[in-house]
Amino acid sequence: MAFTIAIDGPAAAGKGTVSRAVADHFGFAHLDTGLLYRATGRRTLDGTDPVEAARTLQASDLEAEDLRTPEVAQAASRVAALPDVREALLDFQRAFARRAGGAVLDGRDIGTVICPDAEVKLFITATDDIRAERRWKELREKGHADSLEDVLRDLRTRDERDSARAAAPLKPAEDAVLLDTSQMSIDEAVSAAISLIEDRL
Ligand code: C5P
Repeated sequence: MAFTIAIDGPAAAGKGTVSRAVADHFGFAHLDTGLLYRATGRRTLDGTDPVEAARTLQASDLEAEDLRTPEVAQAASRVAALPDVREALLDFQRAFARRAGGAVLDGRDIGTVICPDAEVKLFITATDDIRAERRWKELREKGHADSLEDVLRDLRTRDERDSARAAAPLKPAEDAVLLDTSQMSIDEAVSAAISLIEDRL
């Protein structure tokens, strides 16, 4: 039986961590859809046309080592504003969502565009400052030297671009449940998400 959990929200709000934990808990498959845009954006850095990059994306492109860099994040957000790029990535995401056994997809437009009929929709947020600090710590652990101010500026640029674009902008679906993780630990955010989902099973 297909059962889809759609998890959207801005960068570094805790979507990825919560989505992985939720998928583990329910025994569902998980797709981080941001990786599709990151892998597409990364391919454009050497001059490849974005639509061509999206249409010819391979599973192995999603495993590239450097998809989590700030440079690739910005490239992802730029290509993600192009309707033809989004269109090229649509069928793969929808097929993943309908797989037997249940699926969790996280991104920006899962509840609004990719899976408007998802059984459960969550929109995860946190304040800009808290999101920037979380991402800054993550990057520092990986050896990146970006300052907290740089990280905050990058997040804001990306969120503004993602929210303002005409094609599938970042916004909560009307029937999404909002979860603000600003004052929550990872464990608290995961427990809150699981109980919200259990209420809807
Ligand atoms: O989630 P992540 O930060 O990896 O996403 C990178 C970028 O990919 C986002 O800033 C956004 O522009 C784009 N994206 C999107 N739609 C999705 C997932 C990601 O537009 N469903």
